[in-house]
Amino acid sequence: MPIVRPQRARTSSAMRELLADVRIHPRDLVLPVFVKQGLTEPVPIPSMPGVVQHSIASLREEVRAAAAAGIGGVMIFGVPSVRNRLGSGATDPSGILPVAIRAARQEAGEDLVIFSDVCLDEFTDHGHCGILGKNGHIDGEATLATYATMAVLHAGAGADAVGLSGMMDGQTAHVRHALDEAGFTATSILSYTAKYASSFYGPFRDAVESTLVGNRRAYQMDFARQREALRALTLEAAAGADMVMVKPAGSYLDVVAKFAQASDLPVAAYQVSGEYSMIAAAGANGWIDADSVAGESLLSIKRAGASIILTYFALQAAGWIAAGT
Ligand code: PBG
Repeated sequence: MPIVRPQRARTSSAMRELLADVRIHPRDLVLPVFVKQGLTEPVPIPSMPGVVQHSIASLREEVRAAAAAGIGGVMIFGVPSVRNRLGSGATDPSGILPVAIRAARQEAGEDLVIFSDVCLDEFTDHGHCGILGKNGHIDGEATLATYATMAVLHAGAGADAVGLSGMMDGQTAHVRHALDEAGFTATSILSYTAKYASSFYGPFRDAVESTLVGNRRAYQMDFARQREALRALTLEAAAGADMVMVKPAGSYLDVVAKFAQASDLPVAAYQVSGEYSMIAAAGANGWIDADSVAGESLLSIKRAGASIILTYFALQAAGWIAAGT
């Protein structure tokens, strides 16, 4: 007869709850939202069932719902009505992002952390995250100047933190300097420290109506390299990142765990659109229980070491947590 019976720890729900050493709190969760210029009604995103492109009015409602659910924050992505070669909609003070950030700030008060996306892929007609030079390659210098202008605009509109998702070399230091020069020393930087060139972003590109042809492998990280992420962590910490992120999350939990061990900065992980859509689609087909798979996926991201999780399930998950399911 075994003396040691690990199953004793699993006998009742109360015992399991007591012994759990990883839990998600709604405050850990950040909801990414899409806001499209010129919309009067929200528009569903077919490849992300349950997720919409918001109008400013429906964004206001969503932000109120997020505050009521007690989640940690929202991350705002803008979809402009017109795109051009330089992505000039991104630096327009009355463009979609500053307008949306201002609206979100009004609704959220101090109850949510408002993040905004600083990147050009939604604004350029070629869909790349930076400005293209004459040779068709990205002009990093020109791109950094544009990111700096965007970040200052977002901070002025009320963003607490800017998310630098473009993966341009030197972007964190450049944006930090620009924010500080403009007096926004209290605005944080969420560094996309390990952002991989991933096919899991597919549905996001529908959500922002991306015009990209080709891929982003010349600037996003190669998922066949692991140690590079630690180099990026060192560089980003030195450049002034306030939070470091791994993206996508689920297939990159090894990197999340390494960051949590190697860094004393808060570690975020982004459960991206493809991760969301795979769970939602399999659930809609009755092949899996989408809610419990989503909950399990979020818990495992937390268990790997992320203290901040960006997820399209944020509002539902806050509901499950409140209900104790
Ligand atoms: C770029 C950006 C992307 C995502 C967030 N920021 C797309 C990309 O790099 O191609 C993807 C997020 C998701 O898939 O949910 N601004």
